[in-house]
Amino acid sequence: MNYRHHFHAGNFADCMKHALLIELISAFHRKPAPYVVLDTHAGIGRYDLNADPAERTGEWRAGIGTLMQIDPRGVAPLRAYLDMVEAMGFPGAYPGSPAIAAHLGRPGDQLICCELHPEDAHSLRRALGRTPDTHIHERDGYEAITGLMPHKTIKRGLILIDPPFERPDEFSRLAQAIVTARARFPSGIVAAWYPIKHRTPVRAFHDMLADAGVADVIAAELTLRQPVDPSRLNGAGLVIVRPPFGFEERAAPMLSCLAATLGEDDASGEVRRITQEQL
Ligand SMILES: C[S@@+](CC[C@H](N)C(=O)[O-])C[C@H]1O[C@@H](n2cnc3c(N)ncnc32)[C@H](O)[C@@H]1O
Repeated sequence: MNYRHHFHAGNFADCMKHALLIELISAFHRKPAPYVVLDTHAGIGRYDLNADPAERTGEWRAGIGTLMQIDPRGVAPLRAYLDMVEAMGFPGAYPGSPAIAAHLGRPGDQLICCELHPEDAHSLRRALGRTPDTHIHERDGYEAITGLMPHKTIKRGLILIDPPFERPDEFSRLAQAIVTARARFPSGIVAAWYPIKHRTPVRAFHDMLADAGVADVIAAELTLRQPVDPSRLNGAGLVIVRPPFGFEERAAPMLSCLAATLGEDDASGEVRRITQEQL
């Protein structure tokens, strides 16, 4: 496990993932019933942008740093996300997915985080430790989908799967994890992040989900440039199983805005349906 998210915190892929995550979690607030968020690959929760890893790559400057400098009218679809990042410490710090979920949680909503790297799990505990209704596990997040789901009492929720993509078989592990998540928590939403370096592995991943019979899947994708050079991270996507009502309509302008502000001339941001609601 060499991957450390601190080098990438606040980059374009984080901006996309976290803006959509806020939208997904906020949809639960339409009803008073509690919800659970399982963040299987949680990271450290809060990233110091002045610390060496973030400074060394400077990736955040081409992501959240750029968005924060744009006239507010040019980033209107991202307002909720940008306001939250600012409230959580930007420009000194950038929040990770567990901090965002904890920030949005109401009394009684539950947040379960898994982080396998011992140092990162320790940092996450320091960042979120005393937050009520938050449970942090130093364990394999893939295995936790079976081990911790379904929740004993809460029927609504989201499983966020955000692996580091260090292994060559990560796309197929991710597809299998989505199938498992769907089976363990049929009433829940599943959101899974993936890199777009080249189209071929992404198509194969979407096909795996369709072939496995996972219904109601959409893909929200942002490409900064045509993904023809597989040595670069050209874009990022989030597949969402059972997206909440109206999500596609709200996500599309967010993705277009990210493409227009962070991408090159041929950038694009769009939501596509991968499988129908009923198969
Ligand atoms: C992409 S980062 C997570 C970023 C975080 N979700 C966010 O959006 O702020 C992936 C994290 O997963 C951790 N990790 C790697 N393999 C894991 C596993 N099998 N189970 C749980 N965590 C794992 C890594 O240490 C890393 O911190």
